[in-house]
Amino acid sequence: MAEAAATAKGTRPEGAQTEGDASRKVREMFTEIAPRYDFLNHLLSLELDRVWRARTARRLRPILQRRDARVLDLCCGTGDLAFALARAGPAGVIGADFSHAMLTRANAKRESQAGKRNSDLAVPAGFFEADALQLPFADTSFDLVTSAFGFRNLANYESGLREIRRVLKCGGALAILEFAEPPPGLAGDLYRWYCRKVLPKVGGLLSGNPNAYKYLPASVARFFRPEELASLMTRVGYGSVSYELWTLGSVALHTAVKT
Ligand SMILES: C[S@@+](CC[C@H](N)C(=O)[O-])C[C@H]1O[C@@H](n2cnc3c(N)ncnc32)[C@H](O)[C@@H]1O
Repeated sequence: MAEAAATAKGTRPEGAQTEGDASRKVREMFTEIAPRYDFLNHLLSLELDRVWRARTARRLRPILQRRDARVLDLCCGTGDLAFALARAGPAGVIGADFSHAMLTRANAKRESQAGKRNSDLAVPAGFFEADALQLPFADTSFDLVTSAFGFRNLANYESGLREIRRVLKCGGALAILEFAEPPPGLAGDLYRWYCRKVLPKVGGLLSGNPNAYKYLPASVARFFRPEELASLMTRVGYGSVSYELWTLGSVALHTAVKT
């Protein structure tokens, strides 16, 4: 794992040689699994994904409670973190993703939620098609940028962190929620067995795309360890970098501030 983590400059789905290949393959994969994405997310995480997003929103409440705060949820997929953030306070939340099929689902949820009579639940202000490595937003636009289970899929992590830093206001915050490999031991070994044996079979069968659910554990194994991501964030120029580990160390929330 140490060797894989040391070479983790960006994701490389099977067969991808270049950053361009990697981005294209990632977009195609999420586009293919979009119709079953939410169902499989909740099923395969045993509903823990909802807990992780809600906890992330709670941690970010001091920003989300500010009416003037502008928030970007990057790699928003079908929008679940953006909805959790919007419910946590009056800040203006938007989502961005490069898979049109995922955004179609996010927008459908938004319309159905906003159209409900007597609903007092806030919804994100909108969802936009954009590549996280080339964001169509001006410098210093946001008070907070978040990403849940999306950052690991970028073709170049350092470029991603620099691009996020560009669109953050000075003093603005970054929060990255990602999978991590739990340390060795009974719980970690059980987790690895589940991710490598059970998850690809069930996910592949129910999504019709076995490769996507083989890619998931492979990309997690190849991704930074939490302390490596923290040091890259510091190197790129973020301050107050810290992280917490949840659920036996299988999930990490990194937070940092643009100084
Ligand atoms: C695992 S999903 C996570 C979706 C959502 N954040 C969630 O919590 O369920 C990863 C998402 O990242 C998006 N993504 C990956 N690379 C991206 C990039 N370079 N730019 C924009 N979106 C990207 C994919 O299209 C996909 O919707």
